[in-house]
Amino acid sequence: MQATRSQFSSKLGFIMAATGSAVGLGNIWGFPTQAASNGGAAFVLVYLALAFCLAYPALMAELFIGRYANANSVNAFKKIAAGSKSRKLGIAIGFYGIIVGSLILGFYSIVAGWMIAYSLETIAYVSQQQDIATWLAEFSTLRNIVFCFLFMLFTILIIADGVQSGIEKWSSRLMPMLVIIILILIAYVLTQKGAIEGLKVYLVPDFSRVMNPKLLINALGQAFFSLSLGVGTMLIYGSYISKNENLPILGGIVTLVDIGVAIIAGLLIIPAMYVALQNGVQIFSSTGQLLSEDTLVFNVLPALFKALGTPGLLFGFAFFCLMVIAALTSSISMLEIAVVYAIENHGIKRKQAAWLAGGIIFIISLVIILNFDPLFGYVITVTTRYSQPLLGLAMCLFAGWVWQRNAMLEEIKQGAAGSEWFWKIWPIYVRYICPILILIMLIHSFSA
Ligand code: PHE
Repeated sequence: MQATRSQFSSKLGFIMAATGSAVGLGNIWGFPTQAASNGGAAFVLVYLALAFCLAYPALMAELFIGRYANANSVNAFKKIAAGSKSRKLGIAIGFYGIIVGSLILGFYSIVAGWMIAYSLETIAYVSQQQDIATWLAEFSTLRNIVFCFLFMLFTILIIADGVQSGIEKWSSRLMPMLVIIILILIAYVLTQKGAIEGLKVYLVPDFSRVMNPKLLINALGQAFFSLSLGVGTMLIYGSYISKNENLPILGGIVTLVDIGVAIIAGLLIIPAMYVALQNGVQIFSSTGQLLSEDTLVFNVLPALFKALGTPGLLFGFAFFCLMVIAALTSSISMLEIAVVYAIENHGIKRKQAAWLAGGIIFIISLVIILNFDPLFGYVITVTTRYSQPLLGLAMCLFAGWVWQRNAMLEEIKQGAAGSEWFWKIWPIYVRYICPILILIMLIHSFSA
């Protein structure tokens, strides 16, 4: 089975797919709102530090384990564990990752469905179909189900097509479009009244909040979510890459692009919020707190787009299309986790596996939609804030302690001539520093 495994066709294919996975709702929806409600630039600084010092090394652990094992996450952990206990633990971690990844896709496809609904709403509004526009914009169980279903369908269709013609082709097409649309939107928003005030909030740090344990764990969870860590996505993408490629550099590029898109998305969203404020849209609650995340993008931005008239609506349409695109290149990477497992461990064909896993995850979404208030926020917190750092911790421990040292050293040197700095520092770093820091932050957040 190993010999027939797919691979990305090129370095660029990998970069597109991995950045496609990393860049998503987390960058454009999660990061700016977290930054805005957590002390602006202070959060950005903490985030940058955590992304480079913890998320990047954890990403490398995942990519190396994947490339070495050339397998899905369950088999990969099994392969690097020598003893029977560590093997069992590895299998459990692999499954935990598949479950967390599927739960993430469960809520992610709901949010991405809203994006589809809002992009259509701008069209309905312009063509004066008021009833349809209202239905599309109003929160309802039926609307949520319809658009979540639609989004899941797109995801399944791409994954059913496989690695090169599915994941790689679509990521390469969609990613550059995404960045171009964001840049056009920034240029537009910055010419509007109120934008500069938003820029100040985003760029001038409030250091009094930097050591707040909630801020730290939020930033850590956000960094792990944004780089798609812990659940096995990057492990699988690592397994599709050739041994000749310089992984530390490629991983570095993915990290930089991911952080870069988050930062520029902040340049769009935060000024846009203050432009909305100028236009009479409420963005703070009566206690001066920023409105919660989903309210922000889904109430404030459409209101802003409408206040700006027809050009605003066109931008609104572009913006929500952009969100759908970003979400799609991420959702395919989440579905791939369960699909590869089904293909490799149960001999199911790719197409069937995509429909089966997609169907099960859609049922998860349905359960969340039908129990929205108790489940939605809860699933997000459990998966992204706690499970992803925990799984990232497990990856570092496996790479640093369980993986046989010589095999590990040999793997990380493959294709990495000229990156001596990396293989001298990283093994020690991933063995001691990463686990200790992640652990401290997790404990800290539980006791906060
Ligand atoms: N990184 C994606 C985002 O920022 C989310 C994601 C999480 C994708 C886990 C894959 C796995 O939107």
